Amino acid sequence: MDQPGSAEVSFLRRMIENNQKNSSLPNCAVDTSGASPSQSLLLGQFVETYEQLQGQPEAAACLVIGTPEGLQVEWRHGTAKSLHLHIDIKSFVRMQRSFPAPRQTGFNQALGRRSRRIVDATGGWGTDALRMCAQGLDVTIIERHPLMGLLLTDAMQRLSATDWAERNRVAIPRVVIGDSITTLQSMEAQADCVYLDPMYPLRRKGTAAVNKYMQFLQWLVGPDGDAAQLLTAALQVCKRVAVKRPDAASPIQANPDTAFSSKLVHYDVYLTRDNSPPDSQ
Ligand SMILES: C[S@@+](CC[C@H](N)C(=O)[O-])C[C@H]1O[C@@H](n2cnc3c(N)ncnc32)[C@H](O)[C@@H]1O
Repeated sequence: MDQPGSAEVSFLRRMIENNQKNSSLPNCAVDTSGASPSQSLLLGQFVETYEQLQGQPEAAACLVIGTPEGLQVEWRHGTAKSLHLHIDIKSFVRMQRSFPAPRQTGFNQALGRRSRRIVDATGGWGTDALRMCAQGLDVTIIERHPLMGLLLTDAMQRLSATDWAERNRVAIPRVVIGDSITTLQSMEAQADCVYLDPMYPLRRKGTAAVNKYMQFLQWLVGPDGDAAQLLTAALQVCKRVAVKRPDAASPIQANPDTAFSSKLVHYDVYLTRDNSPPDSQ
């Protein structure tokens, strides 16, 4: 039935290795009471790995709980009412009309019209990676924060068990827990495009549902001060790097080769020399 498999075991090993040196979890705890056996295993190992997680659940600003809808974050930071956040695979699957899903102006122009293998090197909540997956692209997600890595791993396991994924033989995104600056260099498979969406300061506090997810990430991981370093690392291993930026933000590195606009954001595209002329369609 719901037994932990080799994917979970290798995930845990990676998580432990990567985060012995790089752990920063503010006041979090876990509650396994509603968790499935595989979720319990993930959560149990998660607690063992990080001493700071062993606090009292009722005192924690962030509680990770197992639910039938997947691992969920209960965030009590600075609000009277706690917020429940999770990667909503059920809704994602419900929204799929056809497979592969249609391509989107801006987003897919930035990835490159011939690109099939994408590394999403800033995984976050996996929204962009799921969009790529729905379009039939082969996606590897890299995420350095262990909690986000845990949520992504659980979400992709649930995605792989859906009828939609089975029926359409969907390539489920692989999740790698680690810092992309180093992880990208050790990846065997060549990607057609590395996609980056580093953190940027929220301009205004929003009430839209999507914003609470970004507010949580701001609280959990803070600003990505090494985004320029990440872009340099990506350009060393891939001929095409697409960087998502808010409309008002300046490029991470001056003079992108091309840029594409979308709703409220744009994508700066950097190409290494051997990829010219630019694939700009
Ligand atoms: C703005 S969020 C990405 C949101 C994502 N595109 C989505 O659709 O949900 C940025 C994420 O990238 C991660 N990140 C930033 N720099 C990273 C790096 N060098 N390696 C791995 N993950 C990184 C952060 O921990 C954070 O979770």
